[in-house]
Amino acid sequence: MYADDKKNFKIKDGAIILAIESSCDETAASVVRGGREILSSEIISSCSEHIKFGGVVPEIASRAHTAAISIAVENAIKNAEITLSDIDAVAVTYGAGLLGALLVGVSYAKALAYSLGVPIVPVSHIRGHLAAAYLVDKDLKPPFVSLLASGGHTAVIVVKDYDDFKILGSTLDDAVGEAFDKVARVLGLQYPGGPNIERLAREGQNVVPMPKMLKGEGGYNFSYSGLKTAVINYVHRCEQTGTKYNKADVACSFQHAATDILVEKAIEACGEYGLNTITIGGGVAANGFLRDNLSAVCKKRGIKLVLPPKILCTDNAAMIGAEGYIQYKKGNFADLSLNAKARVDLG
Ligand SMILES: Nc1ncnc2c1ncn2[C@@H]1O[C@H](COP(=O)(O)OP(=O)(O)OP(=O)(O)O)[C@@H](O)[C@H]1O
Ligand SMILES: [Mg+2]
Repeated sequence: MYADDKKNFKIKDGAIILAIESSCDETAASVVRGGREILSSEIISSCSEHIKFGGVVPEIASRAHTAAISIAVENAIKNAEITLSDIDAVAVTYGAGLLGALLVGVSYAKALAYSLGVPIVPVSHIRGHLAAAYLVDKDLKPPFVSLLASGGHTAVIVVKDYDDFKILGSTLDDAVGEAFDKVARVLGLQYPGGPNIERLAREGQNVVPMPKMLKGEGGYNFSYSGLKTAVINYVHRCEQTGTKYNKADVACSFQHAATDILVEKAIEACGEYGLNTITIGGGVAANGFLRDNLSAVCKKRGIKLVLPPKILCTDNAAMIGAEGYIQYKKGNFADLSLNAKARVDLG
């Protein structure tokens, strides 16, 4: 039985991992060597199919994954210039995400690993976002501060070791990406909201008053629900009273408030924990304003910043290969009973 064999796999340095990601609307496959070197990274997005619904429709996403997964994996293998026999392990996102979507990737990974006689490495999508930094800076080693800013998560984390995290604080309600998406909707912008807010914000100024964002010293939790509600109320009030308002100013002011606090808390964490490196991951880390602001502040303070390219911030499979290698080296293998999970703890 495969399940009984799972502890007998030989663990190799520099293993070649085929990674699969299907937690939301991107069907992604990647080949990563030794957790640090991307040999290929394929992403097939069903985003355009969801735009008219204003958000990801789980059933449509699952069907799109089913149609795309073989193509993504075949392209990843072809573009990495390897053959199936070169693959040492198959890593797959098992959570967090949409269950039906995750199940497509998990089922595919189980079948592929079984047929190749290699281990299945279950990977947390959130850990994957954090591990993207290892693909960028080959010498990056813990400890460092990591800022997680995605569609479902917002947190400041001390990465004590590759597999040892201290979560200093996280969101008490909405995630930062979720707030971007909800504010975009109220401004009449299409899904996905983040990039559209960023585009509009470039034409605006930071002049619309926004509520304070839990700025107290030493607390690392976030609350985006109040900020989102303040924007919604502002827009509705203007519309009800027939007051003209500038959407670009609203987008710009919101973007400032939503991202300034992330920069401030990451810097504060470096000071408190005596660390000199910050990494960032998750879809909101693709935001140009946040990237520029964080880069400038880090430069001023002599803090090293590891900033993955935008394509490694939003969902991709290379980051799953990076985290997959960490788990592979620990021998953290799943058997064929591996199931998808909608929620996965951060730590
Ligand atoms: N340029 C940008 N500016 C701001 N937000 C952005 C930008 N690009 C993407 N986002 C936001 O990032 C989020 C998507 O990121 P990501 O793919 O990491 O989220 P997710 O996978 O749905 O959630 P999670 O990773 O927490 O499970 C969306 O909320 C999107 O609006
Ligand atoms: Mg994500």
